[in-house]
Amino acid sequence: MKRFFIGSIITIFILIVLLGYRQNIFSQGKLPYDDEQVGLENQIIIKFSHVVAENTPKGKAAEKFASIVNEKSNGRIIVQVYPNGMLYNDDNELQALKEGDIQMIAPTFSKMTEYLPNLQVLDLPFLIENEEQLKRVLTGPLSEQLLDEFDSINIKGLTFWNNGFKQIASSHSPIIEIQDFWHKKVRMMPSELLKEQFYLLRAKPITTSFGDVYNELENMSVDAQENTISNIYSKKFYEMENHITLSNHGILSYVVMMNKEFWNQLSTNDQEIIASALEEMENWQFEEAENINAINLKTLLQDEQVHIYELNEEDKKDWMEELSPIYEYYTKNIHPDYLDILLNEINK
Ligand code: LMR
Repeated sequence: MKRFFIGSIITIFILIVLLGYRQNIFSQGKLPYDDEQVGLENQIIIKFSHVVAENTPKGKAAEKFASIVNEKSNGRIIVQVYPNGMLYNDDNELQALKEGDIQMIAPTFSKMTEYLPNLQVLDLPFLIENEEQLKRVLTGPLSEQLLDEFDSINIKGLTFWNNGFKQIASSHSPIIEIQDFWHKKVRMMPSELLKEQFYLLRAKPITTSFGDVYNELENMSVDAQENTISNIYSKKFYEMENHITLSNHGILSYVVMMNKEFWNQLSTNDQEIIASALEEMENWQFEEAENINAINLKTLLQDEQVHIYELNEEDKKDWMEELSPIYEYYTKNIHPDYLDILLNEINK
């Protein structure tokens, strides 16, 4: 009996040792070579957070960027996209970027005007008239100058992405004539120039985070907003703001930016991968933004609950006249030259 016990214990011991060796439990050295582990140490993760839906110009651009970067780096650089404000919203995404909790964001330029007031030149209404001019401005020398300014707030400004032209959406009644704006509570993005715009139209501007707009419409603390068709459609704002005036009075574009420390730590080769990915997708991004807005507009036009109006020339002239002091406001209070540069680029 005793012998049987000793024999069993020895057998179990030998089995444990053998198993341990097979599983490398006793190994002090490195793991054996395995294709799947190649490059793990060099892998770079870029967390890209944004506030809009996935099926929008920014949402799709972020996904496209992630896929090009992945391909160019043979899977070594992974861009993880977090849409819909699931990680951070308008109020905290910039802070999270600066603290390095995420590496990339792409807020509208209007939301950055608090830190870089010169960007407000892009908020000036009724200057850019068509997609061609818009692309020229967002990819030309003025845009380079504006991106360079991000250095001063310790951020790497990489490029502009486009969403297109802003329209006016309202609940209860349409906003077509100037008087329709009077006393209306209009949600806007944080920009002093946009505030001035709504003061001139005698509305009551209210700044809110994008993620709060739906609730605010629901509890009627705002009556109207300016936004692109793709944002109005993808966030279902049209369910409450079912009057949409196609005014094309301003533009909505994004500054794609990166935590500067993170950018500086990348190798020149990796910086080149990121820069060339953005360059490669530039034409696609502008076309895609135009397409998405056109497709969403077509859907809204077919919705009987939604009333869509086109601003006629006469009403447009009235809006422009009412807003005319805003250009002087920009030149006097913000930057004396940028408006001239913008006008030059538009008229090229
Ligand atoms: C808004 O706040 O209306 C927009 O900036 C949202 C966006 O990112 O397009």
